[in-house]
Amino acid sequence: MTVNTLAPVPVSLPLPAALAGRTVVVVGGSSGIGLAAGALLASAGARVTLVARDRDRLAAAVEQVCTPGATVTGIAGDGTDERDLERVLDEAGGPVDHLLVTAGGLAGGPFLDTPVDRLRQAVDGRFWGAYAAARAAARLMPPGGSVTFSSGLYLQRPVPGAAAAIAILGAVEGLTRTLAVELAPMRLRVNAVRYGVVDTPLSRGSLGLDGAEAVAAAGRNTPLGRFGTAQEAASAALFLMANNFATGTVLTVDGGQSLV
Ligand SMILES: NC(=O)c1ccc[n+]([C@@H]2O[C@H](COP(=O)([O-])OP(=O)(O)OC[C@H]3O[C@@H](n4cnc5c(N)ncnc54)[C@H](OP(=O)(O)O)[C@@H]3O)[C@@H](O)[C@H]2O)c1
Repeated sequence: MTVNTLAPVPVSLPLPAALAGRTVVVVGGSSGIGLAAGALLASAGARVTLVARDRDRLAAAVEQVCTPGATVTGIAGDGTDERDLERVLDEAGGPVDHLLVTAGGLAGGPFLDTPVDRLRQAVDGRFWGAYAAARAAARLMPPGGSVTFSSGLYLQRPVPGAAAAIAILGAVEGLTRTLAVELAPMRLRVNAVRYGVVDTPLSRGSLGLDGAEAVAAAGRNTPLGRFGTAQEAASAALFLMANNFATGTVLTVDGGQSLV
């Protein structure tokens, strides 16, 4: 029998105990990394609110994450709209201990063929969405609260056809470091995870990968021989939430993809 030493090992307990009983809002929680974060948070005993636009997908996500004993709710909302985010967080009720922002997709196209107008909405949504979500949540956070944003490996290893999307990653990391300083007097922390390619509906769509075999083949040339799982990516976000001394940190979790 051959042992596949490259296979992912599911993240298991103990998860950060500091998150038990905490209220965590995941903007982008119905799919991919946000959905995996919701499941890990629920199993760590956090009270979880998942936010996304598509109501049916959100309801399915809540059902998937809400294991017996877990407290998981879904609130439909648009993470690019500051007013809507304020409404969502008011509906969530009470203080928010931690916010994770995973909303957003990849907007791209060859630079010389892609006018500003085609990308403006996606770019605005991704950057101002992160800004607005942090603003809406920070006013509800007690000391010890945290915001965790999503960045990506392509900021360090750019690829053609994604100029605006990659520039936003830089903006999000700049926002992370700036807010870490500005919100520190409130004892709030702000961090980001710089993900490598993670197997999610987003990456499958943007890389044109249809099915697990195509994903496995595409990941083979990376240092660890595979792309990351959504759970592996999400657990990095939970680490940043739970570590009370992490702020302004951009944590790279990419299976070594940025090294080669
Ligand atoms: N997967 C990767 O390889 C990878 C690598 C680097 C960085 N990232 C970043 O990590 C984040 C999560 O990626 P993922 O792969 O998990 O994506 P995903 O599977 O496509 O999930 C994205 C989630 O965000 C929600 N969403 C999108 N736009 C939204 C909006 N305007 N308001 C509220 N919710 C919204 C989606 O639901 P609705 O569409 O229903 O709203 C969905 O729940 C993204 O920011 C992505 O750019 C991903």
